[in-house]
Amino acid sequence: MDHETFSAVDEFVTANLVEHDEALQGALDAAEAAGLPAIQVSPPQGKLLQILARLQGAKTVLEFGTLGGYSTILLARALPPGGRLITLEANAEYAEVAGASIERAGLGEVVDLRVGPALETLPALEQEGAGPFDLTFIDADKVNTPNYFAWALDHSHPGSLIIADNVVRNGSLGDAHDADPATKAQRALHETLANESRVTATTIQTVGGKGYDGFTIALVERA
Ligand code: SAH
Ligand code: DHB
Ligand code: MG
Repeated sequence: MDHETFSAVDEFVTANLVEHDEALQGALDAAEAAGLPAIQVSPPQGKLLQILARLQGAKTVLEFGTLGGYSTILLARALPPGGRLITLEANAEYAEVAGASIERAGLGEVVDLRVGPALETLPALEQEGAGPFDLTFIDADKVNTPNYFAWALDHSHPGSLIIADNVVRNGSLGDAHDADPATKAQRALHETLANESRVTATTIQTVGGKGYDGFTIALVERA
Protein backbone atom coordinates (compact mmCIF):
# COMPACT_ATOMS: atom_id res chain seq x y z
CA MET A 1 0.00 0.00 0.00
CA ASP A 2 1.29 3.43 -0.76
CA HIS A 3 0.44 7.02 -0.10
CA GLU A 4 -1.41 7.34 -3.40
CA THR A 5 -3.77 4.55 -2.33
CA PHE A 6 -4.37 6.10 1.09
CA SER A 7 -5.14 9.45 -0.55
CA ALA A 8 -7.52 7.86 -3.05
CA VAL A 9 -9.46 6.17 -0.25
CA ASP A 10 -9.58 9.42 1.74
CA GLU A 11 -10.93 11.19 -1.35
CA PHE A 12 -13.56 8.52 -1.95
CA VAL A 13 -14.71 8.57 1.68
CA THR A 14 -14.71 12.36 1.74
CA ALA A 15 -16.70 12.64 -1.49
CA ASN A 16 -19.35 10.25 -0.20
CA LEU A 17 -19.59 10.85 3.51
CA VAL A 18 -18.15 14.22 4.49
CA GLU A 19 -20.22 17.37 4.18
CA HIS A 20 -18.39 20.30 2.68
CA ASP A 21 -19.55 23.84 2.06
CA GLU A 22 -18.44 27.37 1.28
CA ALA A 23 -17.41 28.21 4.84
CA LEU A 24 -15.11 25.18 5.13
CA GLN A 25 -13.68 25.71 1.66
CA GLY A 26 -13.25 29.39 2.53
CA ALA A 27 -11.28 28.46 5.63
CA LEU A 28 -8.99 26.16 3.63
CA ASP A 29 -8.57 28.75 0.85
CA ALA A 30 -7.80 31.56 3.30
CA ALA A 31 -5.25 29.38 5.09
CA GLU A 32 -3.55 28.46 1.83
CA ALA A 33 -3.57 32.07 0.59
CA ALA A 34 -1.94 33.20 3.85
CA GLY A 35 0.72 30.52 3.58
CA LEU A 36 -0.37 28.43 6.56
CA PRO A 37 0.87 24.82 6.50
CA ALA A 38 -1.83 22.39 5.29
CA ILE A 39 -1.67 20.21 8.41
CA GLN A 40 -5.34 20.41 9.41
CA VAL A 41 -7.19 17.19 10.20
CA SER A 42 -8.25 15.27 7.10
CA PRO A 43 -11.96 15.49 6.24
CA PRO A 44 -12.66 11.91 7.43
CA GLN A 45 -10.85 12.60 10.70
CA GLY A 46 -12.73 15.86 11.09
CA LYS A 47 -15.98 13.98 10.59
CA LEU A 48 -14.95 11.57 13.35
CA LEU A 49 -14.39 14.54 15.67
CA GLN A 50 -17.89 15.76 14.85
CA ILE A 51 -19.41 12.35 15.48
CA LEU A 52 -17.60 12.04 18.81
CA ALA A 53 -18.70 15.52 19.87
CA ARG A 54 -22.31 14.69 19.01
CA LEU A 55 -22.16 11.29 20.70
CA GLN A 56 -20.82 13.13 23.71
CA GLY A 57 -23.60 15.72 23.57
CA ALA A 58 -20.72 18.16 23.98
CA LYS A 59 -21.66 21.71 25.00
CA THR A 60 -18.17 22.78 26.02
CA VAL A 61 -15.11 22.04 23.89
CA LEU A 62 -11.48 22.98 24.36
CA GLU A 63 -9.08 22.85 21.42
CA PHE A 64 -5.29 23.19 21.49
CA GLY A 65 -4.01 24.36 18.09
CA THR A 66 -6.39 26.34 15.86
CA LEU A 67 -4.28 26.77 12.72
CA GLY A 68 -6.73 28.15 10.12
CA GLY A 69 -9.83 27.09 12.04
CA TYR A 70 -10.79 24.02 9.99
CA SER A 71 -11.14 21.60 12.93
CA THR A 72 -12.51 24.47 15.01
CA ILE A 73 -15.39 25.05 12.60
CA LEU A 74 -16.14 21.33 12.39
CA LEU A 75 -16.22 20.92 16.16
CA ALA A 76 -18.19 24.14 16.73
CA ARG A 77 -20.82 22.93 14.26
CA ALA A 78 -21.29 19.76 16.30
CA LEU A 79 -22.41 21.76 19.34
CA PRO A 80 -26.04 22.34 20.30
CA PRO A 81 -27.40 25.92 20.54
CA GLY A 82 -25.61 27.66 23.41
CA GLY A 83 -22.55 25.44 23.06
CA ARG A 84 -19.12 27.03 23.41
CA LEU A 85 -15.68 26.19 22.06
CA ILE A 86 -12.43 27.68 23.33
CA THR A 87 -9.51 27.30 20.93
CA LEU A 88 -5.88 28.15 21.70
CA GLU A 89 -3.40 29.27 19.04
CA ALA A 90 0.18 30.46 19.58
CA ASN A 91 0.69 32.07 16.18
CA ALA A 92 -1.01 35.49 15.95
CA GLU A 93 -1.05 35.47 12.13
CA TYR A 94 -2.68 32.05 12.02
CA ALA A 95 -5.17 33.19 14.65
CA GLU A 96 -6.12 36.21 12.55
CA VAL A 97 -6.78 34.02 9.51
CA ALA A 98 -8.72 31.55 11.65
CA GLY A 99 -10.76 34.27 13.35
CA ALA A 100 -11.91 35.65 10.00
CA SER A 101 -12.85 32.18 8.74
CA ILE A 102 -14.73 31.40 11.95
CA GLU A 103 -16.66 34.68 11.56
CA ARG A 104 -17.49 33.88 7.93
CA ALA A 105 -18.78 30.50 9.10
CA GLY A 106 -21.19 32.33 11.40
CA LEU A 107 -19.51 30.92 14.51
CA GLY A 108 -18.09 34.11 16.00
CA GLU A 109 -20.41 33.84 18.99
CA VAL A 110 -19.67 30.17 19.57
CA VAL A 111 -15.89 30.22 19.34
CA ASP A 112 -13.57 31.94 21.81
CA LEU A 113 -10.12 32.14 20.20
CA ARG A 114 -7.22 32.83 22.57
CA VAL A 115 -3.90 33.90 21.09
CA GLY A 116 -0.60 32.90 22.67
CA PRO A 117 1.29 29.76 23.63
CA ALA A 118 -1.28 27.58 25.35
CA LEU A 119 0.76 27.18 28.52
CA GLU A 120 0.59 30.99 28.82
CA THR A 121 -3.11 31.34 28.06
CA LEU A 122 -4.30 28.46 30.26
CA PRO A 123 -3.81 30.37 33.55
CA ALA A 124 -6.38 32.97 32.44
CA LEU A 125 -8.84 30.20 31.62
CA GLU A 126 -8.15 28.74 35.04
CA GLN A 127 -8.85 32.12 36.70
CA GLU A 128 -12.06 32.52 34.76
CA GLY A 129 -13.20 29.14 36.02
CA ALA A 130 -13.43 27.76 32.48
CA GLY A 131 -14.64 24.21 32.05
CA PRO A 132 -15.22 21.48 32.78
CA PHE A 133 -14.97 20.55 29.12
CA ASP A 134 -17.04 17.76 27.63
CA LEU A 135 -14.45 17.22 24.90
CA THR A 136 -10.85 18.38 24.50
CA PHE A 137 -8.95 18.13 21.22
CA ILE A 138 -5.17 18.37 21.66
CA ASP A 139 -3.51 19.28 18.35
CA ALA A 140 -0.86 21.95 19.02
CA ASP A 141 2.90 21.65 19.66
CA LYS A 142 3.42 17.93 20.10
CA VAL A 143 6.09 18.14 22.83
CA ASN A 144 3.49 19.64 25.14
CA THR A 145 0.77 17.05 24.53
CA PRO A 146 1.33 15.48 27.99
CA ASN A 147 1.08 18.91 29.64
CA TYR A 148 -2.12 19.73 27.76
CA PHE A 149 -3.50 16.33 28.63
CA ALA A 150 -2.83 16.91 32.33
CA TRP A 151 -4.60 20.28 32.20
CA ALA A 152 -7.51 18.88 30.23
CA LEU A 153 -7.93 16.00 32.68
CA ASP A 154 -8.03 18.44 35.59
CA HIS A 155 -10.74 20.38 33.71
CA SER A 156 -12.87 17.41 32.75
CA HIS A 157 -15.75 15.58 34.38
CA PRO A 158 -16.67 11.91 34.45
CA GLY A 159 -17.64 11.08 30.87
CA SER A 160 -15.44 13.74 29.24
CA LEU A 161 -13.40 12.80 26.18
CA ILE A 162 -9.83 13.90 25.58
CA ILE A 163 -8.45 13.32 22.08
CA ALA A 164 -4.81 13.84 21.13
CA ASP A 165 -3.80 14.04 17.47
CA ASN A 166 -0.50 12.98 15.87
CA VAL A 167 0.63 10.52 18.50
CA VAL A 168 1.80 7.69 16.20
CA ARG A 169 4.18 9.83 14.17
CA ASN A 170 4.91 7.52 11.25
CA GLY A 171 5.24 4.60 13.64
CA SER A 172 7.91 6.10 15.83
CA LEU A 173 5.55 5.76 18.82
CA GLY A 174 6.54 2.09 18.92
CA ASP A 175 10.29 2.83 19.05
CA ALA A 176 11.63 3.17 22.60
CA HIS A 177 14.92 4.52 21.24
CA ASP A 178 13.48 7.28 19.04
CA ALA A 179 15.24 10.51 20.02
CA ASP A 180 12.65 12.95 18.63
CA PRO A 181 11.24 15.00 21.55
CA ALA A 182 7.78 14.96 19.92
CA THR A 183 7.85 11.15 19.86
CA LYS A 184 9.19 10.93 23.41
CA ALA A 185 6.29 13.13 24.49
CA GLN A 186 3.74 10.75 22.96
CA ARG A 187 5.40 7.80 24.71
CA ALA A 188 5.30 9.79 27.96
CA LEU A 189 1.61 10.43 27.37
CA HIS A 190 1.05 6.68 27.14
CA GLU A 191 2.99 6.07 30.38
CA THR A 192 0.79 8.67 32.07
CA LEU A 193 -2.34 7.02 30.70
CA ALA A 194 -1.14 3.61 31.87
CA ASN A 195 -0.85 4.92 35.44
CA GLU A 196 -3.90 7.19 35.50
CA SER A 197 -6.92 5.52 37.04
CA ARG A 198 -9.18 8.46 36.14
CA VAL A 199 -9.16 7.56 32.42
CA THR A 200 -9.42 4.61 30.12
CA ALA A 201 -7.80 5.12 26.73
CA THR A 202 -6.73 3.70 23.42
CA THR A 203 -4.66 4.76 20.45
CA ILE A 204 -5.70 4.14 16.87
CA GLN A 205 -3.21 4.14 13.99
CA THR A 206 -4.37 5.88 10.83
CA VAL A 207 -3.35 6.14 7.20
CA GLY A 208 -4.73 8.69 4.79
CA GLY A 209 -3.86 11.65 2.64
CA LYS A 210 -1.70 12.97 5.50
CA GLY A 211 0.29 9.74 5.69
CA TYR A 212 0.73 7.39 8.65
CA ASP A 213 -0.18 8.74 12.06
CA GLY A 214 -2.83 8.19 14.70
CA PHE A 215 -4.71 9.55 17.64
CA THR A 216 -5.35 8.75 21.28
CA ILE A 217 -8.83 8.83 22.79
CA ALA A 218 -9.17 8.94 26.57
CA LEU A 219 -12.50 8.66 28.36
CA VAL A 220 -12.69 10.09 31.87
CA GLU A 221 -14.11 7.35 34.06
CA ARG A 222 -17.29 7.73 36.01
CA ALA A 223 -16.36 7.33 39.67
N1 SAH B 1 -6.38 21.71 14.79
C1 SAH B 1 -5.99 22.26 13.50
C2 SAH B 1 -4.53 21.98 13.18
C3 SAH B 1 -3.58 22.50 14.21
S1 SAH B 1 -1.91 22.47 13.60
C4 SAH B 1 -6.87 21.63 12.43
O1 SAH B 1 -6.97 20.40 12.41
O2 SAH B 1 -7.48 22.35 11.61
C5 SAH B 1 -1.07 22.88 15.07
C6 SAH B 1 -1.27 24.33 15.51
O3 SAH B 1 -0.76 24.47 16.84
C7 SAH B 1 -0.52 25.34 14.65
O4 SAH B 1 -1.42 26.32 14.20
C8 SAH B 1 0.49 25.95 15.59
O5 SAH B 1 0.75 27.33 15.37
C9 SAH B 1 -0.19 25.75 16.93
N2 SAH B 1 0.71 25.80 18.09
C10 SAH B 1 2.03 25.47 18.12
N3 SAH B 1 2.51 25.66 19.34
C11 SAH B 1 1.49 26.09 20.12
C12 SAH B 1 1.36 26.46 21.48
N4 SAH B 1 2.41 26.42 22.31
N5 SAH B 1 0.15 26.86 21.92
C13 SAH B 1 -0.91 26.90 21.08
N6 SAH B 1 -0.84 26.57 19.78
C14 SAH B 1 0.33 26.18 19.31
C1 DHB C 1 1.83 18.76 12.27
C2 DHB C 1 0.83 19.13 13.16
C3 DHB C 1 -0.40 18.52 13.09
O1 DHB C 1 -1.40 18.84 13.94
C4 DHB C 1 -0.65 17.55 12.14
O2 DHB C 1 -1.87 16.97 12.12
C5 DHB C 1 0.34 17.17 11.27
C6 DHB C 1 1.58 17.80 11.32
C7 DHB C 1 3.14 19.41 12.35
O3 DHB C 1 3.35 20.23 13.24
O4 DHB C 1 3.97 19.12 11.50
MG1 MG D 1 -2.94 17.32 14.01
